[in-house]
Amino acid sequence: MIRAAFADPPYLGCGQKHYGALHPQAADYDDPRTHHRLIQRLCDEFDCWALSLHEPSLATILKMCPGGVRVGAWVKPFAAFKRNVTRAWTWEPVIFSFSPARSRSVEQDTWRDHLSEPIAMRKGFPGAKPERFSFWVFEGLNLQPGDDFHDLFPGSGAVGQAWAKWRRAQEPAEQFTLGMEVET
Ligand SMILES: C[S@@+](CC[C@H](N)C(=O)[O-])C[C@H]1O[C@@H](n2cnc3c(N)ncnc32)[C@H](O)[C@@H]1O
Repeated sequence: MIRAAFADPPYLGCGQKHYGALHPQAADYDDPRTHHRLIQRLCDEFDCWALSLHEPSLATILKMCPGGVRVGAWVKPFAAFKRNVTRAWTWEPVIFSFSPARSRSVEQDTWRDHLSEPIAMRKGFPGAKPERFSFWVFEGLNLQPGDDFHDLFPGSGAVGQAWAKWRRAQEPAEQFTLGMEVET
């Protein structure tokens, strides 16, 4: 079992603006030092982790990370367009710190370092992640159902729900079939 985390904090400079009404310390994430402390925590407390951020903060935040991290891309074929934004932001970086204990074997499907998936249509919660995004993160980290996974900024709860669903989907086919038989 490994200890894994996904961190989806307010993006640098967006704390007060997007989450001020939802969390009393949201403005802390407008300060790069808060992101630095978060990255230190991820490195100290977890065997592997993934961190969501936005492209404007990538240069600043990548410098805070240890060597060997990998930047993945969540590409958004459907994204919100704003009239005054003439070069749309249609992707978000995700920084991955993989565990050496979880290198992928050649028998496993090759994981891609990008995902093309529209933004979540979960109205009412800014920054909620779509289910396929979470699955992509779990597979990138090469998690197993028994791992100790922590969603550090749950927000809508979408990532935790995806973890529960993904774990169930990893169960052996016989068990799943048995479960179906009991239900019918
Ligand atoms: C990008 S959202 C997380 C979205 C989540 N991954 C989802 O799929 O719904 C960031 C979350 O961090 C919370 N937050 C803001 N400031 C915080 C702080 N200082 N400490 C902990 N959480 C904070 C916000 O209220 C929000 O729920």
